[in-house]
Amino acid sequence: MILDIISKKANNYELTKEELETIFMGYLNDEVKDYQMSAFLMAICINDMSDSEVFALTDIFIKSGDVLDLSFIDKIKVDKHSTGGVGDKTTLIVAPLVASLSVPVIKMSGRGLGYTGGTIDKLESIPGFVVNLSEDEIRKQALDIGIVITSQTKNLTPLDKKVYALRDVTATTNSIPLIASSIMSKKIAGNADKIVIDIKVGRGALIKTKEDAIRLSNLLIKIGTYYQKEVRTVISNMDVPLGHNIGNKLEVLEALDVLKGKEKGALYDLVVELASEMVSLGKNIDIETAKGEVIDNLSNGKALDKFLELVKYQHGNVDNLSIEAKVYNIKANKNGILNNIDALSIAKLCENLGAGRKDLNDKIDYNAGVVLRKNIGDEIKEGDILASLYTNVLDPVFNIDKTFEIS
Ligand code: URA
Repeated sequence: MILDIISKKANNYELTKEELETIFMGYLNDEVKDYQMSAFLMAICINDMSDSEVFALTDIFIKSGDVLDLSFIDKIKVDKHSTGGVGDKTTLIVAPLVASLSVPVIKMSGRGLGYTGGTIDKLESIPGFVVNLSEDEIRKQALDIGIVITSQTKNLTPLDKKVYALRDVTATTNSIPLIASSIMSKKIAGNADKIVIDIKVGRGALIKTKEDAIRLSNLLIKIGTYYQKEVRTVISNMDVPLGHNIGNKLEVLEALDVLKGKEKGALYDLVVELASEMVSLGKNIDIETAKGEVIDNLSNGKALDKFLELVKYQHGNVDNLSIEAKVYNIKANKNGILNNIDALSIAKLCENLGAGRKDLNDKIDYNAGVVLRKNIGDEIKEGDILASLYTNVLDPVFNIDKTFEIS
């Protein structure tokens, strides 16, 4: 039976929901083996999925675990998701910004598996910050201050988790229907009313082309419509890292700079775009009005105050955030214009410096990471500092020509 299902997909026939359920739930229950699921996922990568197969798979992922109950909040709840990028600390800024405009944000986030940490790792780099709240604590905090960022309390979409871990090691991460059902199952199980998804596209992202980003966007919106959840997408560039700091505590420091109005540029622009979409959805107002409110709360300190309220409520302290690590400055070896900073090699570097984990049990060095000192388009002189590496690893290996393109 399992082999029939695999060969049906390999021969490009459409599968029924029952067939998809048999193979995927069989995988969750260890009846279908890794090697069988690997072959099946590769057949999907090659032959794609129809819309009805994608809807069916999303449903199977959702029903494999719990669904959150957020009905204790009577306002429209808006969630945000990013397909993953280097230096992406937008949640740290966008969530308090949106909450400062009275749109509740209850966010379940993950730890990062891969080159750099996830939102929960970044928050955990703040001394004292508690990330594992109970359901009662989440409810109380949401009602008191309108914002919660916590690790998952319930067992949401365990099947997606298991399939994603296998996709990661079998070169099957970049299938658009698999990405769409993976993201949407998590968002629907999280039970927000409306969802904004940041699709990263570029050399440092899972999605490499604009065409694929548009196809993913259309599919995410279609799945949302199927579940009666309004979905909006933003397609953003990930050729170069987002912002200047990459690494957990360094990213918190940069998020604070944006909230204090000290940093503009690509990160600020994306924060404004994502938050405006969320506020427009949450308050049912047009995007230009939402954008005005978002920019106001970034400049009048209300978003910063909401961030500090969140940190205090979850027992953190950002008063004396300092980086405890050795600093190695990377200096330019020629004159010219800085044309590119390769996001992927910066991400791999961060992992080598200790900022990421290869295995879920690895320990992260919250102080490790990279601060980029120059922007794309800057004129560079030999000897200029391009980046500072923060690490407790002795003599980190670094290939300047692979990372910085100067010509
Ligand atoms: N993000 C997800 O949550 N799932 C994917 O498959 C890809 C990006």
